[in-house]
Amino acid sequence: MSNQTSLEVSGVSKIYPNGYEALADVSFNMQQGEFICIIGRSGAGKSTLLRCINGLHPVTRGSIRIQGTEITSLPDEEKLAIRRRIGFIFQEFNLVGRLSVMHNVLSGRLGYMNGFHSVIGYFSQEHRQKALECLGRVHMLHRATYRADNISGGEKQRVAIARALAQEPLLLLADEPVASLDPDLTWGIMEDLRSVAREEHVPTLVNIHDLETAKAFADRIIGIARGRILYDGPPSGLTTELLREIYRSDDPNRRSRYELVS
Ligand SMILES: Nc1ncnc2c1ncn2[C@@H]1O[C@H](COP(=O)(O)OP(=O)(O)OP(=O)(O)O)[C@@H](O)[C@H]1O
Ligand SMILES: [Mg+2]
Repeated sequence: MSNQTSLEVSGVSKIYPNGYEALADVSFNMQQGEFICIIGRSGAGKSTLLRCINGLHPVTRGSIRIQGTEITSLPDEEKLAIRRRIGFIFQEFNLVGRLSVMHNVLSGRLGYMNGFHSVIGYFSQEHRQKALECLGRVHMLHRATYRADNISGGEKQRVAIARALAQEPLLLLADEPVASLDPDLTWGIMEDLRSVAREEHVPTLVNIHDLETAKAFADRIIGIARGRILYDGPPSGLTTELLREIYRSDDPNRRSRYELVS
């Protein structure tokens, strides 16, 4: 089971309607439970990659398989069914502030409910039980009845992780999940994400700006620059040379700190 390929991205290119090529021939695989951090400077294509994987953006070329199913050519209805099994965690949490924490997590169950029940917002005992388990998984049971806009940023991100877990995800994608949090919280959230990936066997892909955090947590790091993968390997293999290239700016007035150290 641990060697099963969960995600296969192969030769993916993404050209936006304005002609900008944000991804160029991107290929990599992920196994069950793998925790990968994607690094790269602003504009490198990190968010574009996650949006292509969850089907939010159509790819221009290439193939994306999730547990063997090619998702780029699926009819809309089947694409939606797969999307419901992809947990997406955002920098700004994207909770519904006026709803309780519990309701936010229950919304992760919508893909498992019949149309009528989801329209009237009826959640069976089984769904409630699952939502509570997910909240417990990230130590947030004591906040279940709070309004989502009354909890702290770190708590919101834990609730967002619980909501993603309630989807029983095949894959977890997190786009800068710690960029709005202070450094102490950052490590707690990264630890939660990594333990969920490992213990629930969910492959998890995290876009992250902070290199030190990426190196501290990732099983594997993918370094992207100008839409291309420049590095794919263990954190220990990232040399200063590679980092310079990954973070190299085309603008001489906006050198990265890796270009400035000699
Ligand atoms: N809808 C769009 N249309 C045209 N170009 C776009 C679109 N969305 C993104 N881009 C461009 O594609 C490139 C990659 O953007 P993307 O958001 O994937 O970068 P990123 O690595 O996530 O950056 P950041 O670290 O700032 O979040 C950027 O140059 C961006 O301006
Ligand atoms: Mg981004």
